[in-house]
Amino acid sequence: MNIFQGKRVVLGVTGSIAAYKSVTLSSRLTQKGALVDVILTDAAAKLVNAITFESVTGRRAYREKDLWEGGEHVLHIELGEENDVFMVAPATANTIAKMAQGIADNLLTVCALASRTPLLVSPAMDGGMYANPATQENLRILEQRGMRILGPAEGHLASGLAGKGRMLEPMELLGHLRLALAREGPLSGKKFVVTAGGTQEPIDPVRVITNRSSGKQGYALARAALDLGADVDLISGPSALEVPVGANVHDVSTAEEMERAVLNLLPEADVLIMAAAVADYQPAKRVSSKIKKEEHDMLQISLKPTPDILHAVAEHKSRSGAPEISVGFAAETDHLKENAEDKLTAKNLDLIAANDVSEPDAGFDVDTNRVLLLWKDGRLEELPLMKKSEVAFRIMDAVIELLEAS
Ligand code: CTP
Repeated sequence: MNIFQGKRVVLGVTGSIAAYKSVTLSSRLTQKGALVDVILTDAAAKLVNAITFESVTGRRAYREKDLWEGGEHVLHIELGEENDVFMVAPATANTIAKMAQGIADNLLTVCALASRTPLLVSPAMDGGMYANPATQENLRILEQRGMRILGPAEGHLASGLAGKGRMLEPMELLGHLRLALAREGPLSGKKFVVTAGGTQEPIDPVRVITNRSSGKQGYALARAALDLGADVDLISGPSALEVPVGANVHDVSTAEEMERAVLNLLPEADVLIMAAAVADYQPAKRVSSKIKKEEHDMLQISLKPTPDILHAVAEHKSRSGAPEISVGFAAETDHLKENAEDKLTAKNLDLIAANDVSEPDAGFDVDTNRVLLLWKDGRLEELPLMKKSEVAFRIMDAVIELLEAS
């Protein structure tokens, strides 16, 4: 699923130096299949030429004078109404002030006033202008009217000073557009808890026991749920992966921390997906200072079991009914189907996704996976090798069906 494919995005660009970054944004959107209509204010056109935008979008970029040109007298209504999402990036203090007051004195502000779709506003200005009570009040007004204010970020400003006023980076804005487009999806209003990555069990302050899980499948599941409109809490073991925009991330390290985080969120959850590779054992004793090698010829570490999180989830579900649906994973090296069936029953799951982690193109730290899906009612589906993002959408299809049936 590509959420951007065929979607109409209106991108309003105003006169901040960050306008050059909007070229990258429109290029990325176009590469993802979106139809991007750029509207430049006169000030923006002094900084970046309309032709630059037209070259990357393959579509006409509109200028202020287009509002008055013959033959297109309803241009502003067309652009304002016929879009899936409307973003103003960068949004200067001046344009923000106009929008807050309902002033419509150029093509962009007319279109913004006519828009019926979610409006995303990404301010970019000098720190002093941003901090000015007038700007703050105007942003508050826009927010109260349901517009989403994205940023600004802190950092280097064009004035040479550092402070709050930088426009968010194009990739982050892309994430916000993706989120806005997903809002009406089939999982809208559903609360998902997704766990991802491996846990780390400390031996001493320096060393840990962990596993080879990268978190890629769990993060892909979180992203897919967001793309379909769900609210997502992502409980993640240590991971270098980029957090999907819109996910509430809870960083954890040990299996015990992960269990606490899961149980905390469970009462509100409709769906739990346990994609994390939770350590099964932890050192029986935690040593508070670094173990020195002179002190041990042979070092033996005794391990004790960690809590089985899905076991605790099953108990919670039998008491309170939440979560409605629980999905587990089975990482196996042999007897895939039999072991997965045992886990499905023992952990009282609705669905389990099993994969053979000894295969080089499935399992840990690769971008692909080959998964066997097993349902509680005995159904079984063998998915071919596919990207982890595709596996995530197949699992979401199954979850949607389970939610509808429950
Ligand atoms: N899991 C869990 N708590 C644990 C270990 C695993 O909730 N302490 C979850 C995993 O997130 C996964 C499922 O249980 O969804 C199966 O995990 P897996 O590691 O395949 O199986 P284990 O139950 O740990 O059994 P074994 O390691 O013996 O195969």
